[in-house]
Amino acid sequence: MSKVWFITGAGSGIGAGTAKAALRAGDCVVATGRNLGKVRDAYRDVASERLAFVQLDVADEAQANPAVEEAVRRFGRIDVLVNNAGYSLLGNFEQLATADIERQFATNFWGVVYPMRAVLPVMRKQRSGHIINISSVAGVVGLKHCAAYGASKFAVEGLSLSVATEVEQFGIKVSVVEPGFFRTDLLDPRNVSWATNAIEDYAAEGSSEAMWSPYHGTQPGDPGKLGDALVTIAAMESPPKLFVAGSDALSVITPVVEARLQSTRAHEGLSRSTDGASIEA
Ligand SMILES: NC(=O)c1ccc[n+]([C@@H]2O[C@H](COP(=O)([O-])OP(=O)(O)OC[C@H]3O[C@@H](n4cnc5c(N)ncnc54)[C@H](OP(=O)(O)O)[C@@H]3O)[C@@H](O)[C@H]2O)c1
Repeated sequence: MSKVWFITGAGSGIGAGTAKAALRAGDCVVATGRNLGKVRDAYRDVASERLAFVQLDVADEAQANPAVEEAVRRFGRIDVLVNNAGYSLLGNFEQLATADIERQFATNFWGVVYPMRAVLPVMRKQRSGHIINISSVAGVVGLKHCAAYGASKFAVEGLSLSVATEVEQFGIKVSVVEPGFFRTDLLDPRNVSWATNAIEDYAAEGSSEAMWSPYHGTQPGDPGKLGDALVTIAAMESPPKLFVAGSDALSVITPVVEARLQSTRAHEGLSRSTDGASIEA
């Protein structure tokens, strides 16, 4: 049976790649974005009865329910929610403005919470559904200049894994995707939010912009192929809870996960030494 996909930030990159892959697979897609003109432009080459456009700024809680209601009016159900919309705030932690960190969470974390809250009642009623949340390598591994971005993605991982345990009983699956570098607009210097507080001690290493901008346009990952992989995952009876996307992501995440396991085992005795709470404590 064909599925109905609801995708946030579907006007470019991984969102558009996923939407087009789902359409190729014969599924229906609700492509959402905060700028509907831009989203429509991304599908100029696609004419399909199975494609609908819906306004959704994920950082605005008030827009989530109306967007989901419109999707259900159009296609009758939602089988796959892809929380994809996001951007990166980059720079040394000390140089980030508090308001910029709050904005990063408004989109990358709350922008996942609001659509999940709006879609879960629909999926519970259906007794089926799959939520796919786009995290990052930075949601698994601490990376320089990624304190805010990484924190927002770690938050998405914790949210996803926890909610998964609550909604499994209703036939709803949750997967987190951890992409490496994909050739999208994410690192276009015009889309990145950069640190604004100058601190002399960090000046010698150069700016975060100088470090990250060269990756723009040279990333190895293909968003269309990631879209195809997500279509494959959405068709699985037992999809992975955590999916690492791309060879670069595998080469960064695998040793970190192995080192964590090794460190956990190496300190097992010390870990167990904290058992046995006394009543006074
Ligand atoms: N590309 C990578 O290397 C990479 C790696 C790891 C994780 N990711 C994650 O993948 C996801 C997709 O990013 P991408 O790489 O495809 O970059 P992208 O091409 O820049 O796409 C991001 C999309 O999110 C949308 N967006 C941003 N803020 C929004 C808001 N408040 N409401 C609705 N839409 C909003 C953008 O729309 P506007 O045009 O309106 O800004 C844009 O269409 C992000 O969560 C990102 O963190 C990407």
